[in-house]
Amino acid sequence: MNKVNKAVFPVAGQGTRFLPATKANPKEMLPIVDKPLIQYAVEEAVAAGITELIFITGRTKRSITDHFDKAYELETELKKKGKTQQLEILRNIVPDNVTCIYIRQAEPLGLGHAVLCARPVIGNEPFAVILPDDLIDDGQRGATKQMIDKFEKQRKSVIACMDVPKEETYKYGIIEADPAEDDSLFKMSSIVEKPKPEDSPSTLAVVGRYVLSPEIFYCLEKTPRGAGNEIQLTDAIDLLLKKDAVYAYQFEGTRYDCGSKLGYMQASVQYALKDKDISKDFEDYLKSI
Ligand code: UTP
Repeated sequence: MNKVNKAVFPVAGQGTRFLPATKANPKEMLPIVDKPLIQYAVEEAVAAGITELIFITGRTKRSITDHFDKAYELETELKKKGKTQQLEILRNIVPDNVTCIYIRQAEPLGLGHAVLCARPVIGNEPFAVILPDDLIDDGQRGATKQMIDKFEKQRKSVIACMDVPKEETYKYGIIEADPAEDDSLFKMSSIVEKPKPEDSPSTLAVVGRYVLSPEIFYCLEKTPRGAGNEIQLTDAIDLLLKKDAVYAYQFEGTRYDCGSKLGYMQASVQYALKDKDISKDFEDYLKSI
C-alpha cells in the first residue's frame, strides 16, 4: 500500500445544530478565536504530510473555497499599508506544495456518501478522512499524524476512538474490539451507530479521524441508507470489517465536539486561554466573572 498523501474533508453537512448561524455560512467556517475550524483541520493534515486536500462541499459552502484561495485585492491592500504580519498570515494558509480539490455533494445523503464522492480523486490509495467539527488538541504532532503512524505500522484501516461515559453511548458510533499490541490499539470486530447504553458493546466511541484503505469504496457502494435515512460511514466500516482487519486507535489529546454548542464554547475558552495575544487578559476576565 502507498503512502497517505490525500485527505478528505466532508464539509457538506447542513449544521442544523448551529442554526441560524449556519443558514448562509458553513459550520466549518465558525472561528475558534481567530481561525476557522476548517483551517485547524487543514493544518493538522499538512502537519501529517498530506499534500492533496479534497473538500466535499455543498450549498452555502462557497466561503470555504474562498478561504483557501488567493485573495489578490486583500493582499495588495495589506502590502500598500505595510501590514506585513497580516500578509504573512494570509499567505501561509496553505503551503505552495499543497493542492486543494473541491467536489460537490449534490445532496446531503450522509457522511458515507460524502466520502464516496471523493473516489474519482482518491483512486486506489489509502487516505485520511478528517471531520473539521471534531477539533483535537494534542499539543504536538496532531491527531492525523498519530493515525497515519499507526496505519503505516499495521497497513490496515485505522479509526480514531475515545472512551466515553456509558450513559452517552447513544450519541456515538461505538466499537466492539479486542486489545491489540498496546493499550491504545484495538482490533475491531463490529461497530454500531448510536446504541442505547444497555445495548452498547463497549464505551469506545468513534471520533472524526480515519485512515482508510481504498476497499472502503466497494463497501460504501453496497451500503444502503441507514440511521437518519443517510448512507453512514459507520455501516460501510462494518462491511469492511467482514473482509479485512480494521483497527481502532485511542489517540492522545483532547477532542472538542465543535458540532455542538457546548463543545464549541469549551474549545473557544480553552484556545483563548492559550492564545499568545489575549491569554492573560482573557484569564483575568474569566476570574473576574
Ligand atoms: P454531522 O452529523 O455533524 O451533520 O456530520 P451536520 O449536518 O454537519 O450537522 P448537524 O448534525 O445537522 O448539526 C458529520 C460530518 O459529515 C459531513 C458534515 O459536514 C460533518 O463534517 N457530512 C454530513 C457531509 O459532508 N455530507 C452529508 O451528507 C452529511
